[in-house]
Amino acid sequence: MGLNIVVTGGAGFIGSNFVYYELANRPGDKIICFDALTYAGNLETLEEAMKSPQFRFVKGDITDAAAVGKLFAEEKPEIVVNFAAESHVDRSIETPGLFLHTNIIGTQVLMDACRKHGVRRFHQVSTDEVYGDLPLDRPDLFFTEQTPLHASSPYSASKASADLLVQAYHRTYGLPVSISRCSNNYGPYHFPEKLIPLMILNALADKPLPVYGAGENVRDWLYVEDHCAAIDLIIRKGKIGSLYNVGGHNEKRNIDVVKIILQVLGKPESLIRHVEDRKGHDLRYAIDPAKLTSELGWTPKTKFEDGIRRTIDWYLSHRDWWEHVTSGEYVEYYEKHYGLK
Ligand code: NAD
Ligand code: DAU
Repeated sequence: MGLNIVVTGGAGFIGSNFVYYELANRPGDKIICFDALTYAGNLETLEEAMKSPQFRFVKGDITDAAAVGKLFAEEKPEIVVNFAAESHVDRSIETPGLFLHTNIIGTQVLMDACRKHGVRRFHQVSTDEVYGDLPLDRPDLFFTEQTPLHASSPYSASKASADLLVQAYHRTYGLPVSISRCSNNYGPYHFPEKLIPLMILNALADKPLPVYGAGENVRDWLYVEDHCAAIDLIIRKGKIGSLYNVGGHNEKRNIDVVKIILQVLGKPESLIRHVEDRKGHDLRYAIDPAKLTSELGWTPKTKFEDGIRRTIDWYLSHRDWWEHVTSGEYVEYYEKHYGLK
């Protein structure tokens, strides 16, 4: 018998890629996407999934206990994978309260429903940002699962808090949980407020590319499908109560990522505009994924050179998608945050 898997936040970037990954690779299972459709969630993203009898979409908020309870009573899920979150660091600096509410209280509400309905696994999709940052001059250092929590932004503090709560529910109530902490993802359906899609779209429109500070901060990029494959493995074979780091040893300075995008698109570097730095800007992220590789045999499949071209091609061939998601609220956010038109 197939599994019923509730995927919260499945209309967002990684959640939707995960929905498609599961539909393609796990034909026996039913995928139920539960998403509030905030500015970051988009039903157009799920248009293809909607055609599958294996898939159901339910609009709802993870902080709404009644809506979550109704969903769980109807679907009786074996597994719940929590992607739903406020995910953008810059927005968390402007509106921290929303991040605490969604990311912490939402996780608690979901876990209470999991306890009540005897869910077999609650998986929390977390981030490497909970570890804080690493210095730029120590390339020998990596985040391991033993690295202490040391969050820098309201976003990462809210994700670290949720992780602690997940571990507390495991210890106190015996809730069967797992947590994954992944590095920066890139790929299709990435909302254009984030570095890579923002730079692609601005370059296409010959608009300035806003690089925070000198652009020397380092991120460890992973193609989104590799992250989805890792989560798929963890929810099926990962040890209950365990924590797994996910990353592919692909560190790059922001300025170098931006230059690669300009080069692939044949646009001039004169479009780069160094702007005011992000407050509390983390210097370097770098994941050690050795536990995931040795315990579950996961390795990333997509090299950055291939993944970035595939991503750029996707944005070139999905103009309708990004034109729709960048209208409305996003225009106001962009103009206020960057002061650029
Ligand atoms: P995203 O912002 O693209 O999508 C978030 C989704 O959650 C949207 O569909 C939104 O509508 C939904 N959502 C927000 N609040 C909700 C609520 N209260 N109830 C129900 N749905 C709600 O985010 P993403 O980049 O896809 O990230 C997904 C998860 O992965 C997050 O938990 C994030 O912390 C984590 N993560 C992201 C990255 C990355 O590089 N993007 C890396 C590691 C971990
Ligand atoms: O590491 C995982 C995290 O990666 C996830 O938990 C977050 O949800 C996700 O948003 C991402 O966080 P970052 O802050 O690293 O991603 P972002 O795309 O916002 O920024 C990447 C780097 O690029 C960062 O050093 C800031 C810089 N940047 C970003 C933007 C939006 C710029 O220089 N200019 C920009 O306009």
